[in-house]
Amino acid sequence: MENIEKLIDKLCETSELTADEYKEILASSDHDEYLASKAREVAQRIFGKDVYIRGIIEFSNYCRNDCYYCGIRASNKYCERYRMTPDEIIRCADSGYDIGFRTFVLQSGEDLTYSTEDICNIVSSIKSRHPDCAVTLSIGEKSREEYQAYYDAGADRYLLRHETYNKDHYGMLHPDKMSWSSRIRCLYDLREIGYQTGCGIMVGTPGQTLDHVVEDLVFMKGFEPHMIGIGPFLPAANTPFADCPAGDVALTLRLLSVIRLMLPKVLLPATTALGTAEALGREKGILAGANVIMPNLSPVENRGKYQLYDGKICISDDASLCSRCISARLKSIGYQAVTGRGDHPDKAL
Ligand code: 5AD
Ligand code: FES
Repeated sequence: MENIEKLIDKLCETSELTADEYKEILASSDHDEYLASKAREVAQRIFGKDVYIRGIIEFSNYCRNDCYYCGIRASNKYCERYRMTPDEIIRCADSGYDIGFRTFVLQSGEDLTYSTEDICNIVSSIKSRHPDCAVTLSIGEKSREEYQAYYDAGADRYLLRHETYNKDHYGMLHPDKMSWSSRIRCLYDLREIGYQTGCGIMVGTPGQTLDHVVEDLVFMKGFEPHMIGIGPFLPAANTPFADCPAGDVALTLRLLSVIRLMLPKVLLPATTALGTAEALGREKGILAGANVIMPNLSPVENRGKYQLYDGKICISDDASLCSRCISARLKSIGYQAVTGRGDHPDKAL
């Protein structure tokens, strides 16, 4: 028991533990409040009580991939598809700008209808209309040349969760034509090109063990991503995992705290999946060391269709309502939503 608090103290001091030590912390729920309070302290030392807000524009739910967990997988014929035009995407960012967003996350399924040039044009239009904003892309696996082209067009950050660092487990979550090596190759390319790069996992995907999660931690410590997306797995109707149990919220929170202590400066969102799993999930995420929230900026008519999992929150609220709701939620726990690009401290302009 006491031993675990000592391990947490050691993690605070050295920012690194052995695989067995990470596992010991993750396996026990007895010290959750101690762990969270340490993670909060570290987050507050670096970011104060500021929480960065990103507006997500989910611009297309067409996807060529068929991940077993995902509601917008290619073979889900019940998923009603939509795709925004470049003009609509740019206007959506404009309206987000007006209500205070300074980072836009452009996310979609792997939709090959948009050419490299289309994506570059969208990025450069948003950047030239709003030079004080950051643009984050989250559009999946691409060639290094494409990543370079988006970067040259002005994209600042890229999110691509690795989903699991264990190759066998990756194979249980994805069809054979998707490869673990290609996913990891993408992450190294992105970082080398100069992006603020984000990886991440779902907690509680079918077949995931605590040892897998520990492998993820060891990988992330070595890779030193600028951002890490962590949320519970939530089942999605009409997918192979529709009847699998959801991931554990307490383990997700513990993991957020361990990550904060392991990589103190990392940008760590309290994810929408966490807020969906539990009404106060995002608030708990912030209190466990997260420092980013990513409300939805997509036009309301599309929101219900971008259902990676069932029960997603905020699908009927417009962007200004979400923005006010998030500010109020943060205020209720003594934090404030801040307007600004919110770069990683090592990558600040
Ligand atoms: N539950 C939780 N998260 C999911 N994602 C995809 N499907 C689900 C699900 N059913 C996450 C993946 C992906 C990110 C965009 O959303 O980790 O990388
Ligand atoms: Fe969207 Fe609360 S964040 S309604």
